[in-house]
Amino acid sequence: MSVTDRYAVVGNPVAHSKSPQIHSAFARALGHDMEYSRLLAPLDGFAACVNAFRKEGGKGVNVTVPFKLEAYRFATTHTTRARLAQACNCLRFDGAEVLGDNTDGNGIVTDIQSNLGIALQGRRVLVMGAGGAVQGVLGPILDSAPAQLVVANRTVDKARRLVDAFLAEPAYAGRALAACGYGDLLNTRFAVVINGTSASLNDALPDLPAGVFSPDALAYDMMYGKGDTPFMRLAREQGAAHLADGLGMLVEQAAESFLIWRGVRPPTAAVIELLRAT
Ligand code: ATR
Repeated sequence: MSVTDRYAVVGNPVAHSKSPQIHSAFARALGHDMEYSRLLAPLDGFAACVNAFRKEGGKGVNVTVPFKLEAYRFATTHTTRARLAQACNCLRFDGAEVLGDNTDGNGIVTDIQSNLGIALQGRRVLVMGAGGAVQGVLGPILDSAPAQLVVANRTVDKARRLVDAFLAEPAYAGRALAACGYGDLLNTRFAVVINGTSASLNDALPDLPAGVFSPDALAYDMMYGKGDTPFMRLAREQGAAHLADGLGMLVEQAAESFLIWRGVRPPTAAVIELLRAT
């Protein structure tokens, strides 16, 4: 008798998560027998919740707010990209071992390069914000060989610490990676500007000086489901040629998680279209 493989997304809150819909669509498309549910963990009960799911035969979980750092500590081994992020959004249970991965960076890079058709290699890239969301994506962005990567943050020291940690990695030593405040961006232009702050959640906008978008620029907000954010409105007013929200990133990080669990990366275009339509 075959047993249906079980996965889940763990978070608090978690009711809003689109991951079950995304993974069910992947499973249908590939004919995989699996079930994907939501687990609401108490704020002080992440490990207990995940261990109970493992005991019931769960094969892996995605992890969302606020447990990504705890998921990193919970894992017994880590991929390099998870170690650089110091956070996990994907755990795979291999017997007594728990592999911790972070697929967010792969998600945004795949969305930008494959779905939007915009190359990062040799381009000047600006990332706004220096919190966990940004830490999760810097490694894969650097791996795509931009000409320069600038991390700007309201609290400049936080951006500096983050950048210094990446420059201390042998793989990124000597790379054109810099930290600054928003005011320092006057008269500098970028081909790709990514908003990784949580400002859009509050309908706010970092204090970005005019003129950072080159005429063919992509303005990418990692937030999704908010419609036009203040950042996207600003980018449009300032002539950015391409605007995108983080929905494609969400689906791509899910596809990469599916690959980690099941050895095949599902096609994503139809699922992105489905989510856009609903
Ligand atoms: P996350 O894990 O989602 O990245 P976080 O660690 O709280 O959340 O980080 C939030 C990021 O958004 C930070 O870079 C924060 O800037 P500070 O480090 O200066 O606090 C940024 N942020 C939030 N609201 C902002 C706003 N209104 N303007 C500019 N930056 C903002």
